[in-house]
Amino acid sequence: MSTVKCVGILTSGGDAPGMNAAIRAVTRSAIYNGIQVKGIYRGYKGLITGEIQEFKTQNVSNIIQRGGTILKTARCMEFKTPEGRKQAYDKLLEENVDALIVIGGDGTLTGARIFAKEFNYPIVGLPGTIDNDLYGTDITIGYDTALNTIMECVDKIRDTATSHDRLFFIEVMGRDAGFLALNGAIASGAEAAIIPETSLEKDQLAEMIENGFRKSKNSSIVLVAESEITGGAIGIAERTKKEYPQFDVRVTILGHLQRGGSPSAQDRILATRMGVAAIDALLDDQRNVMIGIQNDQIIYVPFAKAIKNDKPINRELLNTLRVSSI
Ligand code: F6P
Repeated sequence: MSTVKCVGILTSGGDAPGMNAAIRAVTRSAIYNGIQVKGIYRGYKGLITGEIQEFKTQNVSNIIQRGGTILKTARCMEFKTPEGRKQAYDKLLEENVDALIVIGGDGTLTGARIFAKEFNYPIVGLPGTIDNDLYGTDITIGYDTALNTIMECVDKIRDTATSHDRLFFIEVMGRDAGFLALNGAIASGAEAAIIPETSLEKDQLAEMIENGFRKSKNSSIVLVAESEITGGAIGIAERTKKEYPQFDVRVTILGHLQRGGSPSAQDRILATRMGVAAIDALLDDQRNVMIGIQNDQIIYVPFAKAIKNDKPINRELLNTLRVSSI
């Protein structure tokens, strides 16, 4: 039987649509199970400075549909130092918080793992990132909404690409992962995706052009994953202008608009399931695990596994895109 009486919740790193739905589910599930909840503002930063407030069910009313995070978020340098983490630990003791639930991406879970080990402190993580790059879970909170946003933007850009017979390189986020670019390309009917996972294996630009991607079309859209490995959309466009001057090339960088907006139904449901599962995990004496979902089943993934492994892309999707875009 768990001894947790008060749980702290925070969001950290880049915001992702669905974080609020997760905060709501964690809060309500904790209260349902007789556990007090404290909201910690601005991620690990607020943990160090003590920006902490008790949350009742009303604090999380009317937020399931909102993008961003009501708890705010930050990327915190102090938490990377032993002194910063000690301050954070002291705050948790002062506030009588017995366990933490952290929502974020790779950096957030890395911080959680170090802290949990250092102070033998129970933490459960929720994968909240549009990048979908956490190992051990089929999908992360925010990814589906970002994918839908990308799809809507590409649909709009296609009007101009078609009207002017242009070749557009559209850069999408993902840090060093190509999930948004690859699935965004399939969903929007783009001609190709240039992603870091395969950049070192082959020259994706040359392959695309040699495959005669303009045989049946006058305009083309290529999604490029941001990353030093791919060179980003600007790098690829410059190269294209030099090597293939026959094309009328344009670049669009979608940027942070991919992180905003009301979460999709899928993200709301995922975040709610994961939020409830996080409290169940603590009640079940699970420690230092990330909640994941595989084949529609909730699973617990040890932090070390989620962080250390690179999540592979599904190679079948490369072929799906190639075949469906001729
Ligand atoms: O991890 C989410 C993400 O949006 C990445 O896709 C991107 O590389 C990064 O965050 C941008 O971070 P920031 O908002 O701090 O510039």
